[in-house]
Amino acid sequence: MSSPSQCRILITSALPYINGVKHLGNLAGSMLPADVYARFMRMKGEDVLYICATDEHGTPAELAAHEDGLSPADYCAKLYDIQKSQYDRLDLSFDFFGRSSCPQNHELTQLLAHHLEQNGLIEERASNQVYSIDDGRFLPDRYVEGECPHCGFERARGDQCDSCSRLLDPVDLKNPRSRISGSTNVEIRETSHLFLRQSQMQEKIRAWVEAATEWPPLARSIAFKWLDEGLQDRAITRDLSWGVPVAYQGKVRPGFENKVFYVWFDAPIAYIAATKQWSDAGKGDWEAWWRRDKGAEDVTYVEFMGKDNVAFHAVSFPVTLIGSGEPWKLVDKLKAMNWVNWYGSKFSTSEHRGIFLDDALEILPSDAWRWHLTANAPESSDFSFTLEGLQSSVNADLANVLGNFVNRVAKFCASRFDGKVPEGGDLTALETDCAKRVGELVAEIDRELEAMNFRKSAAAMRALWVAGNEYMQASEPWKAMKTDPVRAGVAVRFALNLARVSALVGAPVIPAATAKILQALGEIGVASWPDPSDGAFLDALPTGQAVAAPDILFRQIEDADVETWRVRFSAG
Ligand code: 2FM
Ligand code: ZN
Repeated sequence: MSSPSQCRILITSALPYINGVKHLGNLAGSMLPADVYARFMRMKGEDVLYICATDEHGTPAELAAHEDGLSPADYCAKLYDIQKSQYDRLDLSFDFFGRSSCPQNHELTQLLAHHLEQNGLIEERASNQVYSIDDGRFLPDRYVEGECPHCGFERARGDQCDSCSRLLDPVDLKNPRSRISGSTNVEIRETSHLFLRQSQMQEKIRAWVEAATEWPPLARSIAFKWLDEGLQDRAITRDLSWGVPVAYQGKVRPGFENKVFYVWFDAPIAYIAATKQWSDAGKGDWEAWWRRDKGAEDVTYVEFMGKDNVAFHAVSFPVTLIGSGEPWKLVDKLKAMNWVNWYGSKFSTSEHRGIFLDDALEILPSDAWRWHLTANAPESSDFSFTLEGLQSSVNADLANVLGNFVNRVAKFCASRFDGKVPEGGDLTALETDCAKRVGELVAEIDRELEAMNFRKSAAAMRALWVAGNEYMQASEPWKAMKTDPVRAGVAVRFALNLARVSALVGAPVIPAATAKILQALGEIGVASWPDPSDGAFLDALPTGQAVAAPDILFRQIEDADVETWRVRFSAG
């Protein structure tokens, strides 16, 4: 139950496709920023619900299962466990991580489609599709490959060309062939599909986006681009067997026996369904977060995603929710990210180009990745990832600045003050000036995280850690120790408190290392966001509290490591 002063914040990050292990770009584009924001809001005392799930339907899932020699259901169950364990090791603090193939999603997807149809927003239409005579079936999206009609790329997928990125209609491919059998014995046949009549909702959606002034600029500009081009009606069914059946209350729609809902229709609905999974597991009340008639009116809903997902979240999902005529909660803030590139070219799952999360976790701890990808979040432009850049931010920011500062003060306290927080005393201009600067930086980090400006928030964290190091250097407690141990104690006490604030502000981004720091400072229990206006802001550690030097917080990345990884990941 939330207290009256608390905000209720619902957070979702775009659902990772089930087909295979995700790469650093997937992490940086949605799950990581969402997690940093969720952790920050929890530290501020807000009532947060962070939901994500695997996106398990569609041709990519079916094709990957086929390649793995498993049924789609078995393949998805296997990859769900693999992905989930990697996200746990990356310290992604989901309140629930569900699956889009869950029964709750089947039920909700069918219910929403039913309401849309009742409201005249779904229409059955005949359309042309590629049919494989040898496979005896229609070939949706990625099941068909051929030459791109725009750029001539020979291996363009039915839904999109990997070379020129244009969205395609499979029937426009030249020399089409089946991805199942390789057969070119294909023809165009007519079949029926359900269409979502997005064009009918153009004005309503525009008015809603215009009122959404709290969306950061990238998401708003992409949404207006789609609206300016005019909303197109969209097929929401496919000729597949793995997915949500086109049925309502167990009754399959005649003629749709071999069809399911399109993955992009059911995937966003899985945000709600995963919350229902959480609810059904006895963890809370999903309707209080999603139904405005059941208490969700006061929820702030924040979505995180890569820029390619904006159209689906700013247009299609709202068309589904608003068009249903039911009081569903809509997104309040939509944070979109640009791309993380790999040495200037695209990360690619199909070509295995870049670093994938299993390898990432094998070579470095989670915090190193979290820090580098937050400090370089692809917000105003794409970010080109390099191993040299990773080395520089881990060594310079984490090891040499934060790690060095904390180690110095904790070690000094352990050796010279018997591992106990020394007593306070008169502060000098060194402390008051530093406290003023640190107070300003905490306020800046707070503002930037609140506004979801992750790069700027990391820059201010780094500046705060630098201030800690500079204080240590300027106050020189090791010298004062010889002449004025009381003064040395005051400096150490102040520096220990600076270390505490340094850890607290860094906790949303580097939770593992900062937990170690807080533990070394004797701080146990829930870490709250520091408040510069609180009298105990830089004097919170009680005199006599036990302090121990932490284990190594961050290992330096050596040039030899970079060289090994360059070869291993075919970098540059
Ligand atoms: O682009 C993607 O990776 C999709 N799987 C995102 C889905 S987000 C939501 F709508 F489910
Ligand atoms: Zn092309």
